[in-house]
Amino acid sequence: MSKRMSATEFDNAKPFDQVPGLRVLPIIGTTWGMFPYVGDGIPISRMLELQKLRFKQFGYIWRDIVPGRPPIVYTARPEDVEKLFKSEGKHPVRPGMDTIKAYRAQRVKDFTSAGILLSSGDAWWQTRSKAQQTILKPKNATHYIPVLNDIAEDFIDRIRLIRPENNEMKPDFINEMYRWALESVGVVGLNTRLGCLRPDLAPDSEAQKLINAANFSFDAINDLEHNFPFWKFFVTPMLQKLYDAQDFLTDTTIKYISQTVEALKGSSFDSYLSILEQLLVRGMEPSDVITMVIDMLMAGVDTSANTSAFLLYYLARNPEKQEKLREEILSVVGPKGSSPTASTLNNLPYLKACIKESFRLMPAANANARITDKDLVLSGYIIPKGTLVAALHQLMARLDENFPEAEKFIPERWIKGDPQESHHHPYVTLPFGCGTRMCIGRKIAELEIQQLTIKMLQNFKVEYDHEDMSCFMRMTNMPDKPLLFKFIDL
Ligand code: HEM
Repeated sequence: MSKRMSATEFDNAKPFDQVPGLRVLPIIGTTWGMFPYVGDGIPISRMLELQKLRFKQFGYIWRDIVPGRPPIVYTARPEDVEKLFKSEGKHPVRPGMDTIKAYRAQRVKDFTSAGILLSSGDAWWQTRSKAQQTILKPKNATHYIPVLNDIAEDFIDRIRLIRPENNEMKPDFINEMYRWALESVGVVGLNTRLGCLRPDLAPDSEAQKLINAANFSFDAINDLEHNFPFWKFFVTPMLQKLYDAQDFLTDTTIKYISQTVEALKGSSFDSYLSILEQLLVRGMEPSDVITMVIDMLMAGVDTSANTSAFLLYYLARNPEKQEKLREEILSVVGPKGSSPTASTLNNLPYLKACIKESFRLMPAANANARITDKDLVLSGYIIPKGTLVAALHQLMARLDENFPEAEKFIPERWIKGDPQESHHHPYVTLPFGCGTRMCIGRKIAELEIQQLTIKMLQNFKVEYDHEDMSCFMRMTNMPDKPLLFKFIDL
């Protein structure tokens, strides 16, 4: 029956060339839309703004044609998104990060595969299937609660140390958030405290150089992959600098993993093994573990830091919600100095609601994307196999038809039985992606964010007295204004 139904669905669908979109010009396709004067002049970094404009122009679905790349279709219809993810095969393909693929291809001796983040097909599944048994296991994640708590406390101490007299942080506070995020993901991936939050961090220390290398990599990937790809024809200065930064990340990762391999040689395996140790002893080759860990560093710094920054912003802008959350934290976890446990973390519904609400408005990924492996019908159009389909979660989540008063921060939407509880389509907001390819670091990330928020609210009243914040894209959504938070001691 489903075959007949889908045949009818295809028979009734309109052809791909009728999908609405900008005029396709020779050589430049639809890229002119972003040019100043002739186009709308909205740069690609202002993704949400651009999507809002196209939604007004074309409706729920439109396409872009960029020469040399697969056609791109954007959808803001939750039913399309559901169909996209439900129809994906065993090995979903996510586009992006071609520069890092190129880097790994030229450093063949250390990279036997492109890695979980970048590979496709069976090569991806070989890594994913082995790694997820360990990384996604709840017991393994909860093992990191005490150390992530220590890291959050060190961050609070650091805030007190660097905080100016008027309590307002300096404009580069986002870099401090990156330090916290790198320290947190480093303890999981590298099995070591890197020391990113140490008060006396020298500019030439390994931790500082790692912070710089990770940060530079995000800037460079963004720049190289969102502009005309000269780097595909020759090694541009920016590409060379990216390779240097990646060399540093790779060499440091190899150093720590080799130390762990050595330590394991004398181990009787009778005590608890860390995630890194488990990856090494349970079937993954050390070279695959190296790539896996670098991918964790690449995927787990910007995302956790920016997400936590947006959450702090919304709490600062909504003092009554901040107070309600603080009351929950103080009654369940206790006053400052008290640390959460696996069981208290399970008993913080308002904290989880605040995180979900912040994700709804400011997801780290503005869209989830797949390159389709079969023809599909989306919004009544035939979308041929091999098309890049982008599910526009941030745009959908800000439409009143999906969430009433969608632009407002209302965590109560996520509380069962609350008068404001939301009954939305389940595919509107998917901050960690979907299906077999969804974020492998989700449990770790949630723990990091929960623990940081707990410590922040136990210690400070958080204020933000400046212009409204929005986002721009640097691989992930970033705050578009300096994080001029005031942290006032309680
Ligand atoms: C707030 C924090 C985070 C957010 C919002 C986030 C979000 C995402 C999203 C949307 C994807 C793509 C999923 C898909 O295509 O369906 C992804 C993939 C991934 N994430 Fe995260 N992530 C976060 C933190 C982390 C952390 C801390 C780690 C490492 C411990 C990590 C490791 C990865 C990896 C390795 C992948 C690729 C998985 C694969 O392709 O199989 N992420 N993440």
